[in-house]
Order: sequence, then C-alpha cells, then structure tokens
Amino acid sequence: MSDLQLEQMTEADLVSIVPLELQSHQHPWTRRHFIDSLKAGHWAYCVRQVDAAHSALAEIHAYCILLPGVDELHLLNITVAPHLRKKGIARRMMQAIENLALQYRLPRILLEVRPSNTAAFALYQSLNFKEIARRKNYYPLRENPNQREDACVMEKVLQ
Ligand SMILES: CC(C)(COP(=O)(O)OP(=O)(O)OC[C@H]1O[C@@H](n2cnc3c(N)ncnc32)[C@H](O)[C@@H]1OP(=O)(O)O)[C@@H](O)C(=O)NCCC(=O)NCCS
Repeated sequence: MSDLQLEQMTEADLVSIVPLELQSHQHPWTRRHFIDSLKAGHWAYCVRQVDAAHSALAEIHAYCILLPGVDELHLLNITVAPHLRKKGIARRMMQAIENLALQYRLPRILLEVRPSNTAAFALYQSLNFKEIARRKNYYPLRENPNQREDACVMEKVLQ
C-alpha cells in the first residue's frame, strides 16, 4: 500500500463498513449509529484500496470517526479490516488524524479503549497516548452483558 489517504465516508460506504464493524467490535455500531453520526456532522473517513481504477468501487480497508470539540479531537471509532491488520494501517491513520487535529488547531486527541483490547491499547501507547482517567463499568461485556468493563480514557497532547 502506498500513501494512505483519509477519504470522506458516505452513506453508500456503509454496505462495506457495517460488516467490517460487526467482525471487529464486541459491541459494534449499527448502521443507524453510523447514519446518525454522519448526520451529526462527525468527521468520518475511509481508507480505500489505492490501486482501484474507480474509487467508488474500491475496497474499504479501514475507517475512522472523529468528533471535533472546542480544544480536542475525540476519536470515536477506528477499525482496520481483519485481513489487513498488523501492516501499519492504523498507525498511519493515527498520524493522518494527528495532522488533521493540527490543521484545525485542536491541541489534543482523546479516546476511550477497553483495557482488554490489547491491540488497540498497544497501538495508542506506542504513539505516546497517556491514560488520564478510567470510566468505571463503561462497556458491557459480550460474554455477559450484565457485567461491565472499565474504559481507559487516553489523551495525546500535540506539540
Ligand atoms: C486496533 C487496530 C485498529 C490496529 O490496527 P492495525 O492496522 O492492525 O495496527 P498497526 O498494524 O498499525 O499496528 C500498530 C501498532 O499497534 C500495536 N498492535 C497492533 N495490533 C496488535 C496486536 N494484535 N497485538 C499487540 N499489539 C498490536 C503494535 O504496537 C503495533 O506496532 P508494531 O507493528 O510496530 O508492533 C485493529 O486491530 C482493529 O481494527 N481492531 C478492531 C477494532 C478496534 O479494536 N478498534 C479500536 C477501538 S478503541
């Protein structure tokens, strides 16, 4: 894969994104969540296969959703297609997200992650995100929805 581009997500992309979301998360967003997010004006991006002749037909490799605040960019969702993981796509997306934050003069990036999500946790730690809080019993557990898992709130202050 050559240079990574974040492209606007549209409702038409959801036909590919919703199945990826289902394969990727314990509590996946539904199509309705994505539509509400797009309608709310969240910043929603896809990473597509770059060598496809027609980008509208290009396979979606990854996507992310961001909520801009007054002085922060909140990462709501980042997902890489299962068969394309461990190839550096998320790391490059995170760099593109940092660039966006800097471009819009948003001095920090915030996110929540399950401490049990070792891949995501390691990704954020490797990028110098720091834990700033725990939200107790934030996420339901798929195996037992009556039990809940904390969320780790992480922050990266941009230079
Ligand atoms: C988390 C996720 C986005 C990482 O995407 P990815 O493209 O595979 O990540 P990268 O290849 O860019 O990896 C970057 C770093 O993340 C960490 N990492 C990624 N996958 C990992 C794994 N399975 N185990 C441990 N560390 C991992 C490593 O530090 C890695 O650096 P390295 O390759 O130098 O060791 C991907 O696993 C995913 O989509 N998971 C399901 C959705 C999800 O959990 N999203 C995050 C919710 S908070």
